[in-house]
Amino acid sequence: CGIIGCVGRGTETTDVLVDGLSTLEYRGYDSAGVALADGDIEVTKRSGTIDDLREAVAAEGPAGEFGIGHTRWSTHGPPTDENAHPHTDCTGDVAVVHNGIIENYQELRDELGADHEFKSETDTEVVPHLIEEALEAGADPETAVREAVSRLEGSFAVAVVIAGTESVFAARHDSPLVLGLGSDGEGPTDAYYLASDVPAFRAYTDRVVYLEDGEFARLSPDGWTVTTIDGEPVEKTVDVVEWDPEETGKAGYDHFMQKEINEQPRSLRQGLSERVDELAGEVDIGDLAYLNPRGVQLVACGTSYHAALYGAALFREAGVPAQAFLAHEYASAPPPVGDDLVIGVTQSGETADTLSALRAARSKGATTLAVTNVVGSTAARECDHVFYIKAGPEIGVAATKTFASQLTALNLLATGMVPTKDDRESIAALRDLPADVQEVLDDSSAEAVAEEYLDSDAYFFLGRGLQYPVALEGALKMKEITYKHAEGFAAGELKHGPLALVTANTPVFALVTGDGEQARKTIGNVKEVEARDAPVVAVTDGQSDVERYADHVLTVPESSPRTAAVLSNVQLQLAAYHTAAKLGRSIDKPRNLAKSVTVE
Ligand code: G6P
Repeated sequence: CGIIGCVGRGTETTDVLVDGLSTLEYRGYDSAGVALADGDIEVTKRSGTIDDLREAVAAEGPAGEFGIGHTRWSTHGPPTDENAHPHTDCTGDVAVVHNGIIENYQELRDELGADHEFKSETDTEVVPHLIEEALEAGADPETAVREAVSRLEGSFAVAVVIAGTESVFAARHDSPLVLGLGSDGEGPTDAYYLASDVPAFRAYTDRVVYLEDGEFARLSPDGWTVTTIDGEPVEKTVDVVEWDPEETGKAGYDHFMQKEINEQPRSLRQGLSERVDELAGEVDIGDLAYLNPRGVQLVACGTSYHAALYGAALFREAGVPAQAFLAHEYASAPPPVGDDLVIGVTQSGETADTLSALRAARSKGATTLAVTNVVGSTAARECDHVFYIKAGPEIGVAATKTFASQLTALNLLATGMVPTKDDRESIAALRDLPADVQEVLDDSSAEAVAEEYLDSDAYFFLGRGLQYPVALEGALKMKEITYKHAEGFAAGELKHGPLALVTANTPVFALVTGDGEQARKTIGNVKEVEARDAPVVAVTDGQSDVERYADHVLTVPESSPRTAAVLSNVQLQLAAYHTAAKLGRSIDKPRNLAKSVTVE
């Protein structure tokens, strides 16, 4: 879910909230709402998209200087108008938005008793009622919010407005919140913002303060304060975000996903900048080069898990035992960690399953490293070390440029931590990678492939070695945004079962780069599917003779095996994108999916 708050924007506050929510829509989008406070509190909320909320706001015209808003991804209760946030108390003077799960809500609800009438099925609704109780017992508004929040168990980011207080209150525990400090002084007063993520208010300010777990903030026209939930003062630093507001717009593309696929040369350049010394044949990963791990465990979910599989393969190539784990499996039964370095691969840095796995590893004494895109994210803050992939903000729910940057970051980390004699070639390929990706983007015929196979029953993807995680990722992208059945297989596994699925109406994408043993064996698998009349789409650098067995060829430039994985993946991203576009799917917000899943 996504939260926004704003004080001091006068009549514009409503627009600031709704516009901010549309940039947070990737966090969840089955219902949304705002609460505006001046004297009274006015709540407007709807099931549906932010555009539905926008219409409701235009019709109802809520106004006020102080406001909060929320876009929801259902966990407790279906997406209905009643379950949408903000939630209010019995008097209607307290409104609350919440991200996370309140584990003791049933207990709190029982304790509040029959005097408190609940209108929704959400866990969140206990919060305004707890605040109401504290106010009735004589607490001032700030103390009432602190008292309510200190009763909550579980994970939460909450934002609260109370009639007549000219403030927005907020607190966090295990769910992100960041403050934005308006500094232009142009309005009647300086404005302050808060949100789950910076893009929500980046149009107005680049000065931000990241809240930590257990912290409490109050924003008012007079300024901002951060304390612990018990009221102890906390010293905060003000950070300046480096990227421009335009980076969160679509820049003329039809979809964020399309923009983000096309941004990869630039995002890769950013991630490689100052980290590759080709002349010396070295990479620079700072102090991480001295970690010297005996073994490596990588934990991740979704696309990031595919990057983790690739990272594990690189460490093993360099002679370090390494294994990738699905984070939720790891968290429920953590393996022995010994002296292993545990790497959490997470674009957002907020995926609850990945955070749990990292916490489990830490509790066993492991050293942890976050490989993430989001500065100040929970993973970045909780791990012993952090390595930023520097891909820039990604809005499309289906990860694209961040996957390319994760692969590249893991390549840098494996090379920097465990140098080998073969590094020179792959470091040279890294230098060329942004230009090679550009070449794929410029010359790809993936759209024609998408068109030809639009009516397929299923899509299969085959890869071996470093191309195996890419096959898995190609299939995930295809299923996420087209809703068609797609599976990725290790090429060698095909004959052990999946071959039974192959028909003339199941195109098989075969990833074949280089001309070595792996390419030769995968070509053997290609022949197996060709013999069953399946159309073959070869993704190849032309070094082998796979083209002879293929119905279509998607070409990538010659590169090192490590970077070839990134290049092949771009072709698969484009194939999935064009297929989804031709099918008229909701590409940036596929049904049932959220970009950042902050519940386990
Ligand atoms: C969600 C998203 C996936 C993403 C996964 C991990 O499930 O829909 O696209 O790969 O979370 O996200 P992370 O932020 O940890 O990389």
